[in-house]
Amino acid sequence: MSNFKINLHEAIYSLSDALDLVGVTHIHHGKRVAYIAAECAKHAGWPTRRLDDLFQAAILHDCGVSKTLIHARLAQFEWENEAEHCLDGAALMQSCALLQPLSDLVRYHHTHWDRSEALDLPLATRLAANCIYLADRVDISCLGMRGTSNNLLLSRDQIRTQIYERRGTWFEPGLVDHFMEVSASEGFWFALESEHVSGYVARWIFDSQPMEIAFAELRSLVRVFSRIVDAKSTFTREHSEGVASLARYLGEQFDLTPRTCEMLELAGLLHDLGKLRVPDELLEKNSKLTALEYADVQRHSFDTYSILKNIHGLEDVALWAGQHHERMDGSGYPYHQSSSQISFESRIIAAADVFQALAQTRPYRQALPPAEILAILQGQAESGKLDASIVAKIEAHLPECHRVALAN
Ligand SMILES: [Fe+2]
Ligand SMILES: [Fe+2]
Ligand SMILES: [Fe+2]
Repeated sequence: MSNFKINLHEAIYSLSDALDLVGVTHIHHGKRVAYIAAECAKHAGWPTRRLDDLFQAAILHDCGVSKTLIHARLAQFEWENEAEHCLDGAALMQSCALLQPLSDLVRYHHTHWDRSEALDLPLATRLAANCIYLADRVDISCLGMRGTSNNLLLSRDQIRTQIYERRGTWFEPGLVDHFMEVSASEGFWFALESEHVSGYVARWIFDSQPMEIAFAELRSLVRVFSRIVDAKSTFTREHSEGVASLARYLGEQFDLTPRTCEMLELAGLLHDLGKLRVPDELLEKNSKLTALEYADVQRHSFDTYSILKNIHGLEDVALWAGQHHERMDGSGYPYHQSSSQISFESRIIAAADVFQALAQTRPYRQALPPAEILAILQGQAESGKLDASIVAKIEAHLPECHRVALAN
């Protein structure tokens, strides 16, 4: 296994862009919550290490939500079963050694301060979780107020009152005091606008350094995000995982380097990242999509690429993942690239994607047996869409390809 030199902050923040897409219209929620929380904690004088943890956890705090319908409920100030997404998010963080230290911050980001006293947690953890809770509720209030006026300055007193009324019950009194001070200025509210909040996050990344991380660590981080994508619909459960395993297996059959095979696995895990923006009902629909719905689905590979291309060290992974709907004859999307522009690795991802999807049940058809999958792939190779040498390799190892694509 090889090492990858990447900036971990940059990777986490870029991947979290995908989470922000779940909001569909209410995007950048994670980034705004990170900004608000960090401003309060900086004012409170927290040391850099605690600020870093707070910032990362805040950016990822809603990772337990991949369904657009559930995201819509986050917009309520308080809602039934809100603990569910906290538990799901914390379990995801637990699955990755790099994110494990942040899991309690996500687990308790909807816990009232006066109830958190009974928890067996260090004070610093309770405070950080509560700080994210406060920041989260501020951003949700902003969303509610935007309906009445686009200028948050007209709503800030009302939002500040809502928070202050919960001082000592929902929120730790000291944190509320810090929030009241930082939010007294107009600049605090202007900075919540998209371009400013993105700049704030970019500065945070700029201050951190690239580091060497082992492939296994990087894969477990990437898996957190592929699981979020796959959890979006019961039909696509483990799709990304299956595409990744099959792409890697095919790379090995072609004797590609171990490094390339690892990168194929990462590209497979990440190829549908942009699907987080697609409304759930389109993935569950059992009839033909309308033109508008198809346009919404079609943008997902473009979104995948635009998120991944920002991670230095993963440029090839971004390209291979982003090209998974391009076809050799130029009939694919989003750029209608043709064989001279589509790398062999991208073609592997494309073939693995079609194979795995056909091997799974979809709302409009049952899972197909290996022989039927192969017949469809061969048809697509003959019509010049898929790479014929890859389809021939699949034919030579058909039972194994089927097993790899479905075994998780
Ligand atoms: Fe949230
Ligand atoms: Fe796709
Ligand atoms: Fe896919």
